[in-house]
Amino acid sequence: MKKPQILAILLVLALAVAGAASLGGWTKIEPEHLKDQDVAEAAAFAVDQHNREGAENLKLVTVDSGESQVVNGKRYRLNLTVSDAGNGDALSKYEAIVWVHPGGNSPKELTSFKKQKP
Ligand SMILES: *[C@@H]1O[C@H](CO)[C@@H](O)[C@H](O)[C@H]1NC(C)=O
Repeated sequence: MKKPQILAILLVLALAVAGAASLGGWTKIEPEHLKDQDVAEAAAFAVDQHNREGAENLKLVTVDSGESQVVNGKRYRLNLTVSDAGNGDALSKYEAIVWVHPGGNSPKELTSFKKQKP
């Protein structure tokens, strides 16, 4: 086989691998969709669930930005501003990851809830 053909085959393979990796990647949620019902529900669930687990009293203020990923249901990674009722309603920012499983009642799971550095 000639060299250019080998290079062409390698290029095709590299593109195939890159394509597979971007499948299931995170996609930015456009600002006009941050108030969509599915995003709002995921954000509300994240805060509720964190309050339950951490015995805190945070309230969702805004969903600032987000990304979603389709993988056995849908995953949301959301930047949230919350106010802390246990701390004089101080505002802080968190990044939450919520997994909405497929199925009738769309059971949700809070995968991560991390305070952002100020
Ligand atoms: C959340 O905010 C951080 C810091 O601004 C940013 O780097 C990150 O990409 C944001 N995440 C999402 C899901 O928008």
